[in-house]
Amino acid sequence: MQHLIAPYRGDLVNPQAADDRVAELRAASRDWPSWDLMPHQVADLELLMNGGMSPLPGFMTQSEVESVCRDMRLANGSLWPVPVTLDVSEAMGESLDIGDRLVLRDAEGVMLAVLTVDELGRPDVAPELEALFGTSDPTDPRISAYLAVRGPVRVAGTVEGVQPPLHYDFREIRLTPGELRRKFARLGWRRVLAYQTHRTLHRAEKELAQRTALELGANLLVHPVVGLSKVEDADHYAKVRCYQALMAHFPKDFARLSLLPLASRGAGPREALLQAIVHRNHGCTHMMVEPNHGGTVLASAGAPQYDPEAALELVNAHRDEVGVEMVPWREMVYLEHRRRFVTVDEVPEDGTVRRVRTDEVVRRLDDGRPLPEWYTYPSVEKELRHRHPYRGRQGFTVFFTGLSGSGKSTIANALRVKLLEIGGRGVTLLDGDLVRKNLSSELGFSKEHRDLNIRRIGFVASEITRAGGAAICAPIAPYDSVRREVRNMVHPAGGFVLVHVATPIDVCEARDRKGLYAKARAGIIKEFTGVSDPYEAPADAEVVIDTSDVTPEEAVREVLLHLEREGYVTSDAS
Ligand code: PPS
Repeated sequence: MQHLIAPYRGDLVNPQAADDRVAELRAASRDWPSWDLMPHQVADLELLMNGGMSPLPGFMTQSEVESVCRDMRLANGSLWPVPVTLDVSEAMGESLDIGDRLVLRDAEGVMLAVLTVDELGRPDVAPELEALFGTSDPTDPRISAYLAVRGPVRVAGTVEGVQPPLHYDFREIRLTPGELRRKFARLGWRRVLAYQTHRTLHRAEKELAQRTALELGANLLVHPVVGLSKVEDADHYAKVRCYQALMAHFPKDFARLSLLPLASRGAGPREALLQAIVHRNHGCTHMMVEPNHGGTVLASAGAPQYDPEAALELVNAHRDEVGVEMVPWREMVYLEHRRRFVTVDEVPEDGTVRRVRTDEVVRRLDDGRPLPEWYTYPSVEKELRHRHPYRGRQGFTVFFTGLSGSGKSTIANALRVKLLEIGGRGVTLLDGDLVRKNLSSELGFSKEHRDLNIRRIGFVASEITRAGGAAICAPIAPYDSVRREVRNMVHPAGGFVLVHVATPIDVCEARDRKGLYAKARAGIIKEFTGVSDPYEAPADAEVVIDTSDVTPEEAVREVLLHLEREGYVTSDAS
């Protein structure tokens, strides 16, 4: 073991209680208050408990937070870049006193640790935000994300571990610092490059990681960050299976894979420094992170990016103290005539390079076209296709919206029959009337209740879509914002087609099949859509149908043609 880099500041601080103490804590915990940790708190606690955050013994006090924010130092002088705090709700804070024991549980109520309350406070977080993000503007997406999961009361104290957070997935590759260190020692690894990532890796990234490690005379730890992955998120499993598939392509005993339960704060350079410490505790001497470091997760939300050099500079400025060197990420491109990957600055003037953008990968998966052989490995592609089948095998939702009597139910019913005739998918119809008899039977027609009704329909539709089925929804859904919410809910799971049944109100009213318009005009039915309640016509509908001049068959054809154009239905039955 002695040839491995020591943990940061000497020893792994791993506050797991011994067995008899665990029994004692469990017995006494009946009388103690409990806090059900949020996902980022579980991740922080896991690293506190397994030594990944050594030398921290627990959640920080306010004076430690201030010192960390101001000078990047703990009370004992150790360099530490970001606050690690436990922020709870007002109600929880109210029930606590100094000296109390607080039981920390996961979302299912499993007891993970006990915290001895050393300090309670309601801190002003503005200086902390300034230190981490360079601003305290609450509209900045990094800040709203940070504050959204932090309650107003801060509980500080040391932690005694009862049992590590439970993970049922990929247990064999969730290695603690101690386990990784033992593994490295057994393999005789001394210099280890941690490649921290949250993207799917293909040949280019594999080449970069391997080449960088070789240049450093190091071995490689692929260390994907999974601290905020949700158990219900199928992408998480697919991504990890892709990493597993990739690992087989490294030379024997050159690289290892382990999942890192780190909850990213999106705090750029300071975050990089925290990661350097965490990697060191895991036995690594170098680290490489992806571009847009510290801002990557938020980049798609349009958050300001950090200067990529800033993280590199900060970590390397503290290299002697932290003991970990950060190596820059470099873009690799495929040089066609040499049939190999090179960095962008190595491309000869006459060289033809090939790149594939992520949206092109998604398009190819959607269409069922192969990915270029040079781009990825067949085993990785297989995993990707498993998670992201071509559109003909993906689920989708067709969401009809329109006034009462506009013809939604008629078209929806006919569409159901057509889709069943085409076959290949289970089909579920969530008709407005039907939903109101069961799923939403207690709801009325206020905006609040209508929105809740549509959200419920959206939730069910997204689950059906995720499972590869076809969901047909046919409520009035008069409000634009909740329709967009449903689109966003369904879209990651598969296709979403909004159909506006735009039959004018006078036609709907003339039909008045249920006699509802007459009642609404007479004031017997209140808040009736189109009469005494608003209907916001969608501007984002994929298909618009006015049933005053088309038959139900023609209307269904329009929808099927759209589904066919998008690749969800591949029949000529339309
Ligand atoms: S919403 O707005 O999407 O939640 O409405 P939805 O669930 O589709 O329910 C609409 C059906 O309920 C009947 N109904 C009313 N509709 C609109 N406004 C009021 N006040 C109202 N009261 C009862 C009506 O039969 C609607 O069914 P359809 O099939 O659209 O005619």
